[in-house]
Amino acid sequence: MAAVASSTPASTVRRTPLIAGNWKMNLDHLQAIAFVQKLAWSLKDAGHDFTGVEVAVFPPFTDLRSVQTLVAADKLPLAFGAQDVSEHDSGAYTGEISGAFLAQLECRYVIIGHSERRTLHAESNEQVSAKVQAALKHNLTPVICVGETAEDLETHGPSAVPVSQLRAALDGVTSAADIVVAYEPVWAIGSGQAATPDQAEQVAAQLRAVLVEVLGEDVAAKTRILYGGSVKAANIAGFMREPNVDGALVGGASLDLTEFASIVRYQKHVGS
Ligand code: PGA
Repeated sequence: MAAVASSTPASTVRRTPLIAGNWKMNLDHLQAIAFVQKLAWSLKDAGHDFTGVEVAVFPPFTDLRSVQTLVAADKLPLAFGAQDVSEHDSGAYTGEISGAFLAQLECRYVIIGHSERRTLHAESNEQVSAKVQAALKHNLTPVICVGETAEDLETHGPSAVPVSQLRAALDGVTSAADIVVAYEPVWAIGSGQAATPDQAEQVAAQLRAVLVEVLGEDVAAKTRILYGGSVKAANIAGFMREPNVDGALVGGASLDLTEFASIVRYQKHVGS
């Protein structure tokens, strides 16, 4: 990540963009190996500068060991992470995965508070906050997901819910923390109806203001805020032109190799 001068306003600092693929419950470990190998080759073939735009994949838990082994053996310039983490370290929590295990697998990131966890698994703001603490404890960078439903949007406007979710998630987080925030309007996820770049920027700016308030100007200035929700090759460039949008969390389109590689290479079609 670029060095940040403390006096630089958050919105003008250069942050390394992050394009992250959230596979959700797709691709088994064999498919994961083939996919990651092909992704790395095709990006390398295209001359992708991995230090200029970071690329990360978030496979299911059962794939992580295979992905780790492949990335290490072939020295692939790809980061990877998990889609969730337990708030507990170990013990009688059937079905849960500890941050300690993810750290052992060299995960750099973990997605926390994805809207599918919040709605389908009734994850509360308190649990999200506890999971953020667990991730940080194990040196995993949490990708904290926030976003409003269509109903929230109508009742409270675009930023009220994401802002309150972020405040809750950051409860107890100190200013030394390395975090990523993902703004994902629930109505845009998997719907084919992405937010406009301007909508994403408006909320991202509010989220950055929360980061400034809670974690201070320096941390806010270097923290990446991603947009997620129906991102594809055809719309990524618009989001990336916005000053407070530093990348994307991509669901459906991250499972299509050509499409995902094209999203990663958005700088080549900024004008499109
Ligand atoms: P989508 O999902 O790109 O398929 O809309 C995004 C996400 O859920 O992270």
